[in-house]
Amino acid sequence: MKSALQFDDWDIPTAAAFAATSPVDLTGTMAAQQPAPVLPPIDAEQKRVVNGQADINQLAPFKYPWAWSFFLNANRNHWTPLEISMAQDVHDYPYKLTPAERHVFENVLAYLTTSDILAMRNIGLAVMEKMSAPELQIYQARQVYEEALHTWAYQHCIETLGLDQREIYNRYRVVPEIHGKIALANRRLHGVLQSGRPLTDRDALHEFAMAYLFFAAVFEGCWFYNGFSPMFALQRRGLMKGAAEQLQYIMRDEVLHCAFGIRVVRQLLEEENLQLDPQALRRMWDEAEAAEAAYAGYILREPILGYNAGLHIEQFRYVANRRARQLGMAEPFSGAANVLPWLDEQANLRKEKNFFETRVTEYQTGGALVWE
Ligand SMILES: [Fe+2]
Ligand SMILES: [Fe+2]
Repeated sequence: MKSALQFDDWDIPTAAAFAATSPVDLTGTMAAQQPAPVLPPIDAEQKRVVNGQADINQLAPFKYPWAWSFFLNANRNHWTPLEISMAQDVHDYPYKLTPAERHVFENVLAYLTTSDILAMRNIGLAVMEKMSAPELQIYQARQVYEEALHTWAYQHCIETLGLDQREIYNRYRVVPEIHGKIALANRRLHGVLQSGRPLTDRDALHEFAMAYLFFAAVFEGCWFYNGFSPMFALQRRGLMKGAAEQLQYIMRDEVLHCAFGIRVVRQLLEEENLQLDPQALRRMWDEAEAAEAAYAGYILREPILGYNAGLHIEQFRYVANRRARQLGMAEPFSGAANVLPWLDEQANLRKEKNFFETRVTEYQTGGALVWE
C-alpha cells in the first residue's frame, strides 16, 4: 500500500503530457521555443551589502569571505536543548532556590524568550531581505534557525520545570520593567521591521544602519550577552546548572550574531560612505542604559548571593564600551569597570575548538557537557 509520505513516486507529469496540456504552445509553432536571453557575467566586486545589482543567486566568488566563515563556524556549534540534562534543575527550582532567586530566574527566562522570538522575526523578516549578497543572507538564514532553537531551549526549561506558560509568556506585557526593553527594541526596529521597505535615500539608509547597529550591538551584544549573567551567578553556586548550560550554548551563538552584525554595519557604513549622527548614537546608548537599569532594578529588587543590580548595570556599561570599540566608535560609558570578569569565561570561544568531539562523547554517555 502506498504511504502518504513517499517522496519518490509523486505524480510528476512527463514532458509530453505537460506539453499536451500546456496553454503556451497550442499551435506547435517555434514561438514557444525562443531561447532565454543571455545575461552578462557579473563580478564579485559588484556585490553590495544593500541595494546591490549583482546576481543574488551567485554565492561565490565571495566579496565578503568573512561572512562565509561565520556560516562555517556557526555550523560547528550545532546542539539541541534535549542533549542537556535538566534533572538537577527539577530538584533545585522548588527546593533549593530562595524566593528572590526564583524571581530572578523566572523573569530572566520571561525576558529572554520574548527577545529571541523578536530576534528571529527581525533577522528573518526584515534584515535578511534587504541584504543583496548571498553570503550575508546565508549566515542570517542560519541565525534565524538559531534564534528558533534558543526559543526551543527556553520552552524546554519552562516545560521541564512545570512553569505556568500563560503567566511566563505574558510577563513582558504586564511587568513594565520588562516591557520597557521590548518596547524600546520594537520602537528602534520598527523602521526596518517592514518587508519591502526600500533603502533608496540617505535618511532611510541611516535609519537602517542605526536599527541594525542597535540590534547587533545592544540587543544581542549587550542585553543578551549580559542578560545571561544572573543565571550564571546561580550556576557558579551549583544551582540550576542545566538551564545555565542551555544559556551557555545560546550565548556562544549570540557572540557570533553580535560579531557578524557589527561587521555588516561596518561594511555598510564604508560602502555607503555613511557617517552616523553622534547625537543619535548617544541617545541610543542612554536609552539602552535606562531600560537596562529599570530591568535590573526589577529582577534584582532583592540581591541574591554574589549578584545584584549594581553589578549588572556596571557590567552592561563595560560590555557596551566593548561593542562601541568593535564598531570603531567612542566608548559611551568611559571608565566602566569589568565587575564580572567570569562572564567572558562563560562565552570563551576557546572551548569551540574541541566542541564537536566533546559533544559527541558526552552525548554518548548522557552526562553534562564539559568543554575543556
Ligand atoms: Fe538568540
Ligand atoms: Fe541572536
